[in-house]
Parts: sequence; structure tokens; C-alpha cells
Amino acid sequence: MTLLQIQIGFFAALTTSVALLVGAAVTAKLHKVKAHMTVVAVMVVALLVTIYFAESMGPHYVFEPFSRQVHLPLAFLATGSLAAPLITGFLHWRGRASVKTHKLAVGGWVVTVLLALGTGIWMLAAATPLASVEGGHPGPTPPAQPAASPVASPAPSARTN
Ligand code: HEM
Repeated sequence: MTLLQIQIGFFAALTTSVALLVGAAVTAKLHKVKAHMTVVAVMVVALLVTIYFAESMGPHYVFEPFSRQVHLPLAFLATGSLAAPLITGFLHWRGRASVKTHKLAVGGWVVTVLLALGTGIWMLAAATPLASVEGGHPGPTPPAQPAASPVASPAPSARTN
């Protein structure tokens, strides 16, 4: 996959995840519990696809160390703390936790996601694309080669010795 394809995949998966998060909130507000759980399940898959594309971007950049040190723990925190709304949602559905607990877990998780997203954008903005480090840019087009002349460079068959 080229970097452009990875970037397109990342932004498509991220936009889908955000749309599904809004869908999860709307279905919950409307008390459509089955729809809420379905949207949440699809959102988790979309988030995993987003993480896959984000990880695939890594080898194409040289990251500035400080922004990377800040972003990585927040990215792990956001991924790990997804368990909180999932578990409290399940417990609330089974009548073993209040909706308040579930909402608190959702709110906390959304904060970690926003922090991971913000610092991820910062890390990418501060990074150097590997293509420019390796001199991978095509650079100016070299001048066209003059057409081969039989006088300047005779064909091997025309040689007499
Ligand atoms: C990241 C995942 C999740 C998010 C973002 C999320 C979001 C929400 C929100 C914002 C509400 C409160 C709506 C309101 O009344 O203002 C809610 C309610 C609820 N959630 Fe979740 N949720 C998630 C996962 C789950 C899971 C995994 C389950 C069940 C297995 C679940 C079951 C429920 C139920 C039963 C309600 C109450 C709906 C009602 O009032 O009829 N949620 N969720």
C-alpha cells in the first residue's frame, strides 16, 4: 500500500468511527437498545480498522521523539479504556449497573480518545515523511537524451575490425 492509500484509509475509517459514535449516542437516547448495541459493535470494528491504518502510517515517517512519547501512552489508554463503556454498557443492559455509571464511563473514554486524536495529529504534523529523509522525491526531470547518431556511435555490425 502506498502512503496516500494508507492516509485515505485512515481518514475514511476515522470518519466512519466518529459517525458511528454519534449513532451510538443517538440510538441510546432513543432507547433503541438493540440498534445501540449493533452500532457499538460496528464502531469497535471501525476503530480497529482505524488503528490498523494508523499503525501502517508509522514506517513512512520519522517521528519527533517528544510528541511520540506523549501520544503513545494516550493511544494505549484510549484503546484499553474502551473496555469501560463496553463493560458498564453490558452491566447496565443486564440491570447490574446504573445508566449514570455507563454514561460516566462513556464520557471518560471519549476524553481519552480526544486526547489520543489531538496528540496523534500533533505527532504527525511534527513528523518528517521518510521519503524526504531518504531523498525519495523524484526531483527535477533530467534533460532528454539526444537521439543516437550512427556517426557518433556506430552500430556494432558497422565496425570493420
Ligand atoms: C463505546 C461503547 C458505547 C458507547 C459510546 C455508549 C453510549 C451510550 C450513551 C451515551 C448512553 C446514554 C444515553 C442517554 O440516555 O443519554 C448509553 C445508554 C445505554 N447503553 Fe451504551 N454505549 C456503549 C456501549 C454499550 C454496550 C456494549 C451496551 C450493551 C451491551 C450498551 C447498552 C446500553 C443501554 C442498555 C443503555 C440505556 C438505553 C436506554 O436508556 O434505553 N452500551 N450508551
